[in-house]
Amino acid sequence: MRQTQFLHMFLVVSLAWLAFLANAEDAYRYFTWTVTYGTISPLGVPQQGILINGQFPGPPIEGVTNDNIVIDVINKLDEPFLLTWNGIQLRKNSWQDGVLGTQCPIPPGTNWTYQFQLKDQIGTFMYFPSIGLQRADGGFGALNIAQRSVIPIPYPTPFGEFTLLVGDWYKSDHKALQQSLDAGKPLPNPDGILINGRPNGFIFTGQGGQTYKFRVSNVGIATSINFRIQGHNITLIEVEGCHTLQEEYESLDVHVGQSVTVLVTLKWSPKDYFVVCSSRFTKPIFNATALLRYEGSNTPASLPLPIGPTYQIHWSMKQARTFRTNSTANAARPNPQGSYHYGTIQVARTLILANTATQINGKLRYAVNGIAYNDPDTPLKLADYFNIPGVFTLNSIQDTPPSGPAALGTSVVGTTLHDFVEIIFQNTEKTMQSWHLDGYSFYAVGYGSGQWTSDKRKTYNLVDAVYRDTVQVYPLSWSAILVSLDNKGMWNLRSAIWSKRYLGQQLYIRVWNSEKSLYTEYDAPPNVLLCGKAKSS
Ligand SMILES: *[C@@H]1O[C@H](CO)[C@@H](O)[C@H](O)[C@H]1NC(C)=O
Ligand SMILES: *[C@@H]1O[C@H](CO)[C@@H](O)[C@H](O)[C@H]1NC(C)=O
Ligand SMILES: *[C@@H]1O[C@H](CO)[C@@H](O)[C@H](O)[C@H]1NC(C)=O
Ligand SMILES: *[C@@H]1O[C@H](CO)[C@@H](O)[C@H](O)[C@H]1NC(C)=O
Repeated sequence: MRQTQFLHMFLVVSLAWLAFLANAEDAYRYFTWTVTYGTISPLGVPQQGILINGQFPGPPIEGVTNDNIVIDVINKLDEPFLLTWNGIQLRKNSWQDGVLGTQCPIPPGTNWTYQFQLKDQIGTFMYFPSIGLQRADGGFGALNIAQRSVIPIPYPTPFGEFTLLVGDWYKSDHKALQQSLDAGKPLPNPDGILINGRPNGFIFTGQGGQTYKFRVSNVGIATSINFRIQGHNITLIEVEGCHTLQEEYESLDVHVGQSVTVLVTLKWSPKDYFVVCSSRFTKPIFNATALLRYEGSNTPASLPLPIGPTYQIHWSMKQARTFRTNSTANAARPNPQGSYHYGTIQVARTLILANTATQINGKLRYAVNGIAYNDPDTPLKLADYFNIPGVFTLNSIQDTPPSGPAALGTSVVGTTLHDFVEIIFQNTEKTMQSWHLDGYSFYAVGYGSGQWTSDKRKTYNLVDAVYRDTVQVYPLSWSAILVSLDNKGMWNLRSAIWSKRYLGQQLYIRVWNSEKSLYTEYDAPPNVLLCGKAKSS
């Protein structure tokens, strides 16, 4: 190609980029994040943590719907690094998803800039490292999206807001945990639970008589938590970007990878009250506490801690079914959330995905429909884009659980843009499971015990189920979701139980149509990293 021609093409491509990626009226927020190891002692024992700009947990992103986020990530660890934006839909833009199936990792000692838009979203989300078990060392933080000023929210404007990053914590660092998993030992019980990096003592101060928003995310790697505040009921207002019917609860279960937003009114006399996050489905029960302090309080919080549910799986399942969409409320756009009648749409395909614990070549693995996922050296998205053969084959995983022994593989479900799909998560293990889909919200229509059968569809909520990005599956139970695959790209469907994802419980959904158009999917970003077989192409 002659140089002028090339220059011309380059200009056209760059202009197209500008036009599609950036919407002039939407604000830009720039961040430079340096990722390092540092010593932290959340449970009183010094250990290696992953810090962002010296902070543990990492700095929050406080955005507004449609903001453009530009984050230069400088990797000063001794190993490759990626951040993923849990719950951010990244429309047409799986390039920025920060998982090994969509991009090459940022090598140690280098930097890479993410650029994405918080398009049409509102609510409480989070980010965390996606590679190996790095997330067990930190590197996670809040990603909160407020509504644009022209959008009314379906509740009175709170007086203030607080963010709670809650999660299980291990005294071993991620490399030790990975080694132990590689050696075939399942992840042990955690050593504790943290709220904003501390097992106790974090203080939220508010004015008596006022109502506050609490954004609660489970940033842990294995453990469901129960959230409650002494003497105060909590009102659920939002689940992962979906405005809910505003029900009052004494406590809420938040499973790994999930976020909820609640309102709390400080309606008593000035005092300190315990905020409790306790582990669910573990023996013993671990508790983390923080304090809700009324301004002017001279009275310390008094024991005992408010009681939460104990093992009680059925309690949790029943509570999950009470989460419902407020159909008349708007989300990030002014049209009512209930105007999309998902319950009347014909299902094009049903996937039944059964997770199992298994042994492959004498090693512990966790499989989905008989395949424990293994990351190839070449990101799937790059293989697609550059037509590199031999990286993956479509439908290398079956739509229903096969019989026979499990194997390692690179599972990619091939789907067509705009397919409407039903996914049943069948948990054949005796432990909690939690499934997350990148790039999407889905309708969490049903939960049940035992084996799913087609007659369970009669129990689905086809009217006002919440749409969210992470659904829990109870031990030896199933959960069902419906999803409209309207976001082209290569999207990670993963267990949010991080040891299980590490040892194989993940796959990718390739949402595709043959039309190459920036209206349906962006091109590779100008700074795309090349690795594996894409390096030489
Ligand atoms: C990030 O890397 C680019 C080269 O890829 C370099 O020009 C830039 O200075 C780096 N930025 C920082 C903050 O290190
Ligand atoms: C649902 O949203 C509407 C519209 O914003 C609001 O007026 C109503 O109070 C909400 N209902 C419930 C039960 O949350
Ligand atoms: C808290 O909410 C529960 C319903 O979940 C209700 O039964 C109880 O009366 C409420 N308590 C207070 C103090 O409002
Ligand atoms: C956590 O608190 C509960 C009471 O809510 C108590 O039964 C349990 O023993 C506590 N766990 C630990 C490890 O102290």
